[in-house]
Amino acid sequence: MRLVSAQFELLVVWIIGSWGWLSNKCVLYDKKTNYWLSIHSSSCPHSNLTAVCWDLSDLKLNLSIVPSNYQALCLEIRSGSVMQSGALSRFSVLETIHIRGCLSTILPGTFKGLSHVKKLYLLCMEQCYNSSLLPNTFSDLTNLEELSIENYRLSVMAPDALGGIPLLKKLTVDSCAEELSDLLCRIVNMSQSLTALDFTSDGIVILRQPNCSDTNGAVLEFPYFYRLQEVFLNFPNAHRLEKRALKCFENISSLFLPDNDALQTQLLQSGISRLRHFVFNNNISFESVCETVFKLSIRQVHISDHKTENYSESAIRNCQGIEVLRLSICHSDNVRVNLIHYLKNLTDVSVLRYWDVKPECIELCDTHTQGPITWLKRLSLTLYMPSITSEQFSCLKNLEHLDLESSNINNISDFTFNGLGKLRILNLRDNNISQITKNTLFGLHNLETLTLELNPLVHIEAFAFIHLTSLKNVDLGDIHHPASQWEKRVTLNLTHIFGVFPPGLMYMNITSFFGCINIIIGSNSTPKLGLALQVRAKNVSFQDCWRPFFKSVVSLTAMTEHLLCGSHFAAKYFPSLEYFDFQSMLYAEFVDMTDLNTLVQLRYLKLMRVDLILQPGLAIMFRNLTKLESLNLISCRILTLEEELSRDLHSLVQLSIKVEEEFSMLETFPEPLTSLSYLLFYRPRLHCSCDNTWLDNWARGQGHIQVIIWHPNEADLTCKDETGIQNFARYSEANCSLDVGFVLFFCTSLGLLLFMLVTVLYQLAGDYLLAFCHILRGWMEEAVRRPNPRGRHCYDVFVSYSGRDERWVVEQLLPGLEQRGPPYLRLCLHSRDFQLGKDIVDNITDSLYSSRHTLCVVSRHYLRSNWCSLELRLATLRLLVEHRDILILVFLEDIPPRQLCAHHRLARLVKTRTYLDWPQEPALQSAFWDRLWIKLAPPEPDPRL
Ligand SMILES: *[C@@H]1O[C@H](CO)[C@@H](O)[C@H](O)[C@H]1NC(C)=O
Ligand SMILES: *[C@@H]1O[C@H](CO)[C@@H](O)[C@H](O)[C@H]1NC(C)=O
Ligand SMILES: *[C@@H]1O[C@H](CO)[C@@H](O)[C@H](O)[C@H]1NC(C)=O
Repeated sequence: MRLVSAQFELLVVWIIGSWGWLSNKCVLYDKKTNYWLSIHSSSCPHSNLTAVCWDLSDLKLNLSIVPSNYQALCLEIRSGSVMQSGALSRFSVLETIHIRGCLSTILPGTFKGLSHVKKLYLLCMEQCYNSSLLPNTFSDLTNLEELSIENYRLSVMAPDALGGIPLLKKLTVDSCAEELSDLLCRIVNMSQSLTALDFTSDGIVILRQPNCSDTNGAVLEFPYFYRLQEVFLNFPNAHRLEKRALKCFENISSLFLPDNDALQTQLLQSGISRLRHFVFNNNISFESVCETVFKLSIRQVHISDHKTENYSESAIRNCQGIEVLRLSICHSDNVRVNLIHYLKNLTDVSVLRYWDVKPECIELCDTHTQGPITWLKRLSLTLYMPSITSEQFSCLKNLEHLDLESSNINNISDFTFNGLGKLRILNLRDNNISQITKNTLFGLHNLETLTLELNPLVHIEAFAFIHLTSLKNVDLGDIHHPASQWEKRVTLNLTHIFGVFPPGLMYMNITSFFGCINIIIGSNSTPKLGLALQVRAKNVSFQDCWRPFFKSVVSLTAMTEHLLCGSHFAAKYFPSLEYFDFQSMLYAEFVDMTDLNTLVQLRYLKLMRVDLILQPGLAIMFRNLTKLESLNLISCRILTLEEELSRDLHSLVQLSIKVEEEFSMLETFPEPLTSLSYLLFYRPRLHCSCDNTWLDNWARGQGHIQVIIWHPNEADLTCKDETGIQNFARYSEANCSLDVGFVLFFCTSLGLLLFMLVTVLYQLAGDYLLAFCHILRGWMEEAVRRPNPRGRHCYDVFVSYSGRDERWVVEQLLPGLEQRGPPYLRLCLHSRDFQLGKDIVDNITDSLYSSRHTLCVVSRHYLRSNWCSLELRLATLRLLVEHRDILILVFLEDIPPRQLCAHHRLARLVKTRTYLDWPQEPALQSAFWDRLWIKLAPPEPDPRL
């Protein structure tokens, strides 16, 4: 679908160009999250997770930002680098390695642990680079299936440099070998596995039979490569082909040798038994071409500079097996090129070159002598044929693809293609066709692709396309005005030419290079949802924008100053749009584009050369575009990128900005962009303002956003103001960093001081903080009114005890105190009365202060418990502050003084305060409860209150 393949061409260009980067040396691609960015740069194959890195010198260091689960690495290294051992071993699931740049050597162990690697490409950019590859360099890549080595000199590599890769299937070598042996002797071990070999060398002058010896000098028998299916050999500088030189390759897919008669004769003795594709040169006669074709079973023949002649029966018979024929014809003596008739296996013919060849000399369908030609599937002609008629094509019953590009066609007669019922592709690009009548395309009911690009289309008759019911892709243009070439405003009524839109129409391009085009849909007929529309003209305006047609368009590319419907920007009439590429001109007249924000399905948006400064609705222009994944502002004018713009762009994964003039980007701008992974700045020129100082640091500090700043000719980021262009780092240091630094210093110091204070306080007071609050409150209450004996106390006694003594508390203490009275005492037990969910220290402190007395039940467990210890400490604090007899100790068991000493607080209390021992004999217990109750009983209420 065009939608995706229309591609993010910018990035491709950038990848190919040289990069200057601010932040780091790698871009990480995750195909799942960003298919807009999938790299279509042909040289670098990619996987789901691909890292593209450049300018590498120390692989281990430079690749440290690439996560180890990446499957493909495309590395551009500095020439002369060394592959260190273990440099890549971290990437345990790596499948593809592509290295651009010349390696001076590859140390042993470089590929250790990379057992998943299937493809390795080593691409040096200098001719004949001397790299001393050691024996078995690639043997750690135990599953390597594809290896490509370009521009390395083979003869300096160890004889067994390519040893130890037993599963290798495909080998591509483009080198300056001088002998076939240079390569062939290095691959003798691969005879069991190799299925494809592509070998190019411009250093080989004489092709000799390979002569290999092992490391001891013993002659090696050259093995039989019985799996080899595809062999491509290119020797553009060969002069001589010795006998049996190519014997080791019985079957060759394609052999390229220079234009040389002797070579073509020697070919028959070279030991080849089959050759699929071969280019014959001009001087050889058709007779001998066919002889070679016959002897080597050649299927695809390219005859350059073919001299037309009358073909002998025997030649034709020998050439019978040809499937693909490419003829480049130069001078014609009016001899008819009618051999296509005679070659019964042809499926594909191209006739190229057009020099004095009269169309009638290409006689395809001679209806008098010949029946239909059923074997031809594809025909490409590039000839001088001002006029084409049905006689030329009607016999090609099974033709599927007809290519008549650049053939100077002026006129196509009616019914020319009648009979080509199987034709799927008709290419009439770059001709002189000005008129298409109702019957020009008659009979093409299976046509899927029609290319009429670069034709001065003046007159398209009503319903000219009505026969094209299967049409999927159509290119129309360049559309001219019927009345005069100079009239710049043309109208195109689509219903008028289509009648009904083909339901499967997927792509339509309408171009009128210099004019203004007015497109009328004309009816409610519409193709299915999914149309990609491309329009190109000085101005484009649609007339009836409420038609259902507009709802079918999901992709719109408009290369025009104005894209209008009436006097409005047309975008809002395309509610299904997912892909929108608008390339305007900065000087175009103002049109309000705020309506862009109605395209809520939009996933890709590119605005090129749009003056956004003029847009009054800029702040809300990108609002509601919640599905937008890729936003590209290329060569636009804009003053400030701020949060207003990005507020709804939650799905944005990739943002590219190329602003010709200076601009500012505020720190708040990227905040709403929660999905952003790639931010590309192309030659940014910032406004000299402290608003922008954050950018550099932010860019360097990004973990999940890859910020790529390209400024190829300047070492650093620059900014511009009234005084001119300056280095931005220096500007911000001089103007912004002082205050920022000072403020930072000040804030940090203050913060540090506060932190230290709090820490010290906490260390000192810690658990007592709340207690202090209670104390303060107590003082304040006392100051305000007279103390109330029951007053703020909810409990009479807070019992501090260890959980281990719970049984005693429940079975003895509770009945002993709570059921004795009146007045009845209210006890506070942590297990019963603490508030759930409250912090335990707060609970203790609050309970302690809401009880009049604290009773500590001391046992060995009690002494060991941290909580009890805290309770005891808080109680003594209260005792000290309130100077009241609030603390009572009960010893459950005899604790030797030695043990008590360790708890100095308790030991001191025992010395200064009375305490009770729990009598083990039941007879004494009643007196114990009496004494305790009296100590804890609330005071008699004051009769005055
Ligand atoms: C060459 O082609 C012939 C015919 O297709 C086939 O029988 C033979 O096995 C091929 N030889 C090799 C080495 O592929
Ligand atoms: C467009 O063409 C159709 C079919 O010929 C016709 O019905 C319609 O009126 C035309 N529209 C305009 C605006 O000319
Ligand atoms: C965004 O969409 C909402 C709901 O559809 C709408 O109310 C609001 O006006 C839109 N905002 C803008 C700026 O168009």
